[in-house]
Formats: sequence, C-alpha cells, structure tokens
Amino acid sequence: MFDSGFGGLTVARAVIDLLPGEDLVYIGDTARYPYGSKPLVEVRDHARELAHSLVEDFGAKVVVVACNTAAAAVPLEDLADELGVPVLGVVDPGARSLVTATRSGRVGVIGTVGTIGSGAYVRAVAETGVPVELSCAACPGFVEFVERGQVDGDEVLVLAERLLAPIVEAGVDTLLLGCTHYPFLARVIAEVMGPEVVLVSSADETAFALAALLEDQGIGSDGVEIGGHEFWSSGDVDWFVATGQRLLGPELTHARRWVPTAIDP
Ligand code: DGL
Repeated sequence: MFDSGFGGLTVARAVIDLLPGEDLVYIGDTARYPYGSKPLVEVRDHARELAHSLVEDFGAKVVVVACNTAAAAVPLEDLADELGVPVLGVVDPGARSLVTATRSGRVGVIGTVGTIGSGAYVRAVAETGVPVELSCAACPGFVEFVERGQVDGDEVLVLAERLLAPIVEAGVDTLLLGCTHYPFLARVIAEVMGPEVVLVSSADETAFALAALLEDQGIGSDGVEIGGHEFWSSGDVDWFVATGQRLLGPELTHARRWVPTAIDP
C-alpha cells in the first residue's frame, strides 16, 4: 500500500490487525507530500509510479491506495488493468460505511482540497443508492499537523473548530474522515463535533474490503505465520521511522529509502 506520507499508516494498522498473516509493504511518499494541495494530474502520476513499484519491485498481489487524494485522482479500474492485480482504494469502502452508519440521513465527509474538489465522495455516495444529505468540507492544514506529529493541543483545536464549523452547522449525525491522516486527529475532531456524532474511518472499512477481496479471489494468506512488514519512504528515513512508529506502533522498527522511477505516461 502507499500514501503520500504517514496517513496510510492508519490503513496499515487496520490491515495488520485484521489480516495478521499477510505480508505488507508500505511506501510513504514523504518527499513529495502533501498530495492534497497538488493538481490531480500530478498526484495521478505519483500514484502510478508507486503502484507500479509495488507490483514490479515487491511482487504485490493487491495494491491498496491508502490515500483518498490519490484514490480520487486515479481511475482505479484502469490502474488495475495496467498492473494486472486488483487495486483497492479508500473512497468506496468509506462511502458505503458512511451511508450504513447514519440514522438521520444527514452525513458529512472531510478531506483534502484535492479529494473534496474532485467530487469523488459525492459520486461514491450517490453510487450507493442510499438517499442521504451530504455535506463536504476540505480541511487544509490537518495533514501538515499529522506529518509534524502534532495531533492534539490548542493550535489543532482552533483550526478544527474553524474548518468543521459548516459540518457542525449542517447537523450531521455521521462524519467520514475522508483522508487517511485524519484518524490521528480523531480526538480533536470528536471534541469539535460532539459526542452524538459518529466518526467513520475509511481505514477500518478499507481493511474489511481488503479481507473480502482476498477471500473472493482466493488469494489470502493461508499460513499461520505472522506476515512480514516492510516500510519505505521517499523522504528522510529517520524522520519516517521516528514519527511513523509513534503513529503506527511497534511494527515500524526501521524503514528504507524508496526512489521513484518514472514510468510511461
Ligand atoms: N493521506 C492523504 C489522503 O488520504 C492526503 C495527504 C496529503 O495531502 O498528502 O488524502
């Protein structure tokens, strides 16, 4: 799986917990993050490089796009055809769980400027066929706090109060964290939204969708051994390990440098 940086570690955590027998290779493209403020065509090129590397350099049997912005930028079916392996994004699993969790039918999605601007969630929620009233908000600045390892405190709270105001105003009962970095800010987001609002994370839903995909295709690990975990980063590796370990947990003991290779357009 890959993400622009640390956010996909929320998906990695969920996958390691749910599918402990699977080998996992994680690439955080920290040298080129953030993706959320970049033009989608640029994000698409980065995403294709990362996905190709996972299959061609690491022999991945499935690619998980553990980044909402990248999943919104690349047509995942085309990418799967190109790679010859299944590709799973975080947008559709998140949208399905959002419409399932709501009681009032008033729901919200927050994400990066790229994800929200792409309209990917509006389409994914519409495709579920469940009639809900959807409010979306971009939250520029959240990712930068997570990448600095600053996940609580007054500064984050003040920003969250400002960015989430329209969603609070809309009176949603369920809010999807449509950026894989945001679960790290869940405590602050929950404080602003209030205890009656259910927060849904695309990370957990993606792990469930991955488990179903592996089973459907008969490609799940059948061993009893705990899978191996490899972490790669295109940026500073020591920083990746120090921050990533705090965010993911003990599995992240070391990381290696991943170098992008340009691929045909
Ligand atoms: N974690 C990514 C996402 O889910 C975005 C972070 C970024 O802006 O690079 O959208």
